[in-house]
Amino acid sequence: MSTQTRAEAKAKSFGENLESDLALEFLRVVENAAIASAHTMGQGDRKFADHVATEAMRHTMDTVPMHGTIVIGEGERDEAPMLYIGEKVGGEFPDGQAVPEVDIAVDPLEGTNLCATGAPGAITVLAASEKGGLLNAPDCYMEKIVVGPSCKGAVEMDAPVADNLKNIAKRMGRDVEDLVVIVLDRPRHEKLIADIRAAGARIKLIGDGDLSAGIASAVIGTGVHAVMGSGGAPEGVITAAAIRCLNGYMLGRLVINKPELEERIARMGIKDGKKIYEAEDLAPGKQLIFAATGVTDGALMRGVRFFGEGTRTSSVIMTLRTGKVRFIDSIHLEKGPDVKVRFA
Ligand code: FBP
Repeated sequence: MSTQTRAEAKAKSFGENLESDLALEFLRVVENAAIASAHTMGQGDRKFADHVATEAMRHTMDTVPMHGTIVIGEGERDEAPMLYIGEKVGGEFPDGQAVPEVDIAVDPLEGTNLCATGAPGAITVLAASEKGGLLNAPDCYMEKIVVGPSCKGAVEMDAPVADNLKNIAKRMGRDVEDLVVIVLDRPRHEKLIADIRAAGARIKLIGDGDLSAGIASAVIGTGVHAVMGSGGAPEGVITAAAIRCLNGYMLGRLVINKPELEERIARMGIKDGKKIYEAEDLAPGKQLIFAATGVTDGALMRGVRFFGEGTRTSSVIMTLRTGKVRFIDSIHLEKGPDVKVRFA
């Protein structure tokens, strides 16, 4: 390095590789939100749990060197005080060095009820990309089918449930009876549940949290082979970012069942409300970061543990272009003369 110092070269390129430069920064964001909300676990107050996660996420965001824009957040500007759609987040370097433009989709606490009741599966989560890399989805339902890498192209949105299950089973080299499908336990899924049962597959009904379920379905060894049914569209976009990093397969279609929603999607520039999206349409970014921390225990991450001398968190950070899936076990130590670190 002759004419340029190492520091100058680093400064020049900061943010060119969003994934390497910001992945661990976003880890801090989801970890802090998880620690904050975990303090409220089991208190029965889902709104408060969400509020503290949102506040912690928002404050930590401002310590990340970036010009960030929230594209999926806690709601519209007039209905959410923080992390609302369009809000600018992020901080500057003290020396004025350039920072990257980033689009961010957040769900500060996915599974507010799960946290409020201490049930498994609550996580704090976000996805980030270069500008335009995440679909600005309206806050409505989305029909979803999420499967793992071996089932790419094996399912169709409008195919009979039995046919989709037969194709998944074939690709996975097993019988339909051996499959486990996760479905949100909702009255709107009565027919779907009956169809899955009639086809012979096993079902895991969940109270909330189809985002973590979707991720689990794309990871071998979790015991989940597919997620079916409708859940939040914003959660669908964040799931898609993870599915791309995991090389899985996902289909999604917005549920536009009210005139207000038609007007809303038109305003958002979505021309075809019936479009069937794949993960690449929902999260088209060339660079994608997906970050999540467990609040309560789940299939891939443990919940937050407080042990007096510190706090232990379990997270997953995935990046698309650099092809990394990192499971991160962090110990956040209290300051004190007698602090000890235990290996496991
Ligand atoms: P919250 O974290 O906002 O409570 O949402 C949890 C969730 O279960 C999502 O995982 C899912 O996509 C959506 O809600 C389903 O919505 P609904 O509860 O209206 O069926």
